[in-house]
Amino acid sequence: MKNLVCFASRTIYETMEQITLNGKGVVFVVDDHEKFLATITDGDIRRAILSKISLGAKIESLVKKNSKEFQLLLSRFPAEIAKKLQRPSASANIGTPVEELLNMVSERINIIPLLKDHKVVDYFQHKALFYAPIASPCLRGNELKYVVECLETNWISSQGRFIPIFEKMISDYCGLKFGVAVSNGTVALHLALMTLNIAEGDEVIVPDLTFGATINAVLQARATPVIVDVEPDSWCIDPLLIEKAITKKTKAIIPVHIYGQMANMKKISEIAKKNNLFIIEDCAESIGAAFENKMSGGFSDIACYSFFANKVITTGEGGMCLTNSKELDERMKVLRDHGMSKTKRYWHDHVGMNYRLTNIQAAIGVAQVEQIDSFAMRRNQIRSLYEEKLSHNPLFTPQMKIKDRKSITWLVTFLMDKRIDIDKMISLACEINIDLRPFFYPLSEMEPFKKFKFETCPVTNDLSSRGLCFPTSMVFSDEEYCRIIRSLDEISHKCIKFL
Ligand SMILES: Cc1ncc(COP(=O)(O)O)c(C=O)c1O
Repeated sequence: MKNLVCFASRTIYETMEQITLNGKGVVFVVDDHEKFLATITDGDIRRAILSKISLGAKIESLVKKNSKEFQLLLSRFPAEIAKKLQRPSASANIGTPVEELLNMVSERINIIPLLKDHKVVDYFQHKALFYAPIASPCLRGNELKYVVECLETNWISSQGRFIPIFEKMISDYCGLKFGVAVSNGTVALHLALMTLNIAEGDEVIVPDLTFGATINAVLQARATPVIVDVEPDSWCIDPLLIEKAITKKTKAIIPVHIYGQMANMKKISEIAKKNNLFIIEDCAESIGAAFENKMSGGFSDIACYSFFANKVITTGEGGMCLTNSKELDERMKVLRDHGMSKTKRYWHDHVGMNYRLTNIQAAIGVAQVEQIDSFAMRRNQIRSLYEEKLSHNPLFTPQMKIKDRKSITWLVTFLMDKRIDIDKMISLACEINIDLRPFFYPLSEMEPFKKFKFETCPVTNDLSSRGLCFPTSMVFSDEEYCRIIRSLDEISHKCIKFL
């Protein structure tokens, strides 16, 4: 709300800046006593600039119909536009029925200020123009500045200063020694497997509840995945089942810290040590999470990260492998770059791939890491808001908080009551432009992967049938989240199945 209300004494330039920051395309102009005067749109400002009205003029001049600036504006445009500009701005008293508010929404203004004693206390926005995506990138730091630097200096490919900086920033943040930036999280997993010489005949243990990339990477390495079930509390791979699934052929375990929650890395590390197995943590969803104060990734031979646009930090597409081993770091850097010798150009010592990240992507990544602490804080606030506002509704059970584990909010996730029809919930939310996602489907249920199941996976089956991810985009304010949450709360009651 704060960014929507604008004092009449502000300049046109300042108002333009405010509209850019609030992302709504409008401001509500108020007088010195905070009484509502008019709604000014970004279109009004565009027309003022075209009419050569000074950017230093007060915004009040576009509100007062008898000002010389307003008259200049009218003279510049054809009669039918001038007529529309003279119409008073719509406003309504708080408590006005929705049907009435819908009638007030016009093509020019889809957002109506709601007043109490002439002061703006809330606003109504036409739902068709409101869309709450599950996630969206937040690129309001130095992203543009650093990308412009890449373009101006011509370093747009996979060399340039931002790549080593990005690698160092991520490895420092996660507490590992070396970082190898790659083109996405899936190839990070594949590069890790290649680097550890995991290949045909080797078995790799993976959880049933994960995104397909985890198992696809194992299959691309021609190894055999072994799918085991997850724990009901953490939703991550069950250490007891790992132990059961180990054979002479097992070479590695890939724990996935699902939805930002850490797997039991203490037990998994003990098992790996006892059986001489590699650990490759899939940290695509967990950058910043920790287990007993050790950051996610810190338990690995090689840890893998994703910087896809829906992740905590993004480079558009992008990923990274982290390790504490100098030898593995050097080998990964060679394999990422076609397996070419570092000292003899075009001489191949190994079979490799082109898994490089570009300097432009790394530039965005550097700007994102600069903001990672504030992103983590805001995501956790959003999660707390959902948990607080839905705590009275027994149909929603939040992701569990586990002692000694610090989770990161990647997506806000809840388990719905067994009676809830998840598909109906998703489609009713979709009708009011709220994007909900189901949990990942069990790998063991899907045709390409089902033959790799170790045993039945009842826990994943249950979680997958009841789990929902909610909008976690950082562009919305608390007020907007309260509205989203209220709608979800209401919808949930309409989705109860008769069992
Ligand atoms: C658990 C998990 N692993 C791996 C990946 C793959 O990352 P990317 O999309 O960057 O290839 C993802 C991405 O969504 C993921 O959620």
